[in-house]
Amino acid sequence: MSAASNDSTVTQRLNSRIAKFRDLSPSDRLTRVGEVAGLGQDTVAALRGGGVLPPKVADGMIENVVGTFELPLGVATNFTINGRDYLIPMAVEEPSVVAAASYMARIARDCGGFSTSSTGPVMRAQIQVLSLEDPHGARSRLLSNRERILEAANRKDRVLIELGGGCRDIEVHVFESTPVGPMVVLHILVDVRDAMGANTVNTMAETIAPLVEEITGGEVRLRILSNLADLRLARARVEYTMEALATAEYPGERMASGIVEACALAVIDPYRAATHNKGIMNGIDPLIVATGNDWRAIEAGAHAWAARSGRYTSLSRWEINGAGRLVGTLELPMAVGLVGGATKTHPAARAALELLGVESAQELAEVAAAVGLAQNMAALRALATEGIQRGHMALHARNIAIVAGASGAQIEAVASVLAREHDVRVDRAREVLAGLGKDGQ
Ligand code: MEV
Repeated sequence: MSAASNDSTVTQRLNSRIAKFRDLSPSDRLTRVGEVAGLGQDTVAALRGGGVLPPKVADGMIENVVGTFELPLGVATNFTINGRDYLIPMAVEEPSVVAAASYMARIARDCGGFSTSSTGPVMRAQIQVLSLEDPHGARSRLLSNRERILEAANRKDRVLIELGGGCRDIEVHVFESTPVGPMVVLHILVDVRDAMGANTVNTMAETIAPLVEEITGGEVRLRILSNLADLRLARARVEYTMEALATAEYPGERMASGIVEACALAVIDPYRAATHNKGIMNGIDPLIVATGNDWRAIEAGAHAWAARSGRYTSLSRWEINGAGRLVGTLELPMAVGLVGGATKTHPAARAALELLGVESAQELAEVAAAVGLAQNMAALRALATEGIQRGHMALHARNIAIVAGASGAQIEAVASVLAREHDVRVDRAREVLAGLGKDGQ
């Protein structure tokens, strides 16, 4: 099922198509975003950044705090997902990511936008049992005590039960031969609702450990969640018409077949799959970071899922359907939360979630999948045609201009010379800068 509404009665909270957004100054962009999304002054101030995370709060979040670390926060425009418009907050240091996602979303928008779905928010935790004479007997005893185990796990977290979540089921995995003898691993499967769920499932796993020892007669060691969140999947799909794909230089058919061929290499070859999937995560991670979620968990889950067959492969698929449309699909674990951790403590993360306007962790997961698919499409589209360096270098040139000491109007002036000359180096930027006045003339 889809967490983001999929019917034609969708009420639009905002219009994510903001004309000439790129041409505005950062401050004017923020004003526009605030107006379009109806944000309050505090939210707008939190998105502006510049010391929004108070040292006291930062000191409470991790240890040995000495300061805070800032990243650029961009907003990807044009996203329509299940008929609803979204503005996507993205915290990232890499140029061209936000522009590429926005551009792909714009083309997708003309073709009906993204469709998404997801499983329920079910996380797994593992309880490792050692020192067993009869691992299969232990498995059988655990399975026949399923109700007791569920009851013990759920006794601890009344709030989760009231919210409709809780430990739903168990699995028992037997490893007859390991370097340390036979091993049984009990999995608890927990609906964590709108939490990322690590704390919830870890607490449950620790709580039931004595019961597991009693039932199996073994010794419990590890009690920890699995980041291979294969019961918490988010999926996105997009279809592009050939007309929408066509550019002045390339017909849509050439673009589509190039994308399908590029994806084929990622499907068969782990060397390419790693880079292909990195391109997907280029879209997902910035949203995960901006919303204060655990991007290491998302990365770990994505790559473990990509390798689940025993061979690392592409997370997405691109094909041409019977109607002659290019169809992209993506499915991956997405353990994100709206409650707990930095999602609540970090003012900018709270503001990013408000801008996004999602109502559940499942909806956030689906939006993340759609952004990942858009980002993947952008990379493949460039790789299948002119290569990524032309667009990338144009944006990278701005960074190099700043490193060389350019400011204000000088940045664009220096960057455009570097991009035109295909010579994006700091020493050349310094030379160009030396020949310019303060106004960039
Ligand atoms: C660069 O950050 C990401 C790409 O390498 C992704 C890809 O190759 O698909 C462009």
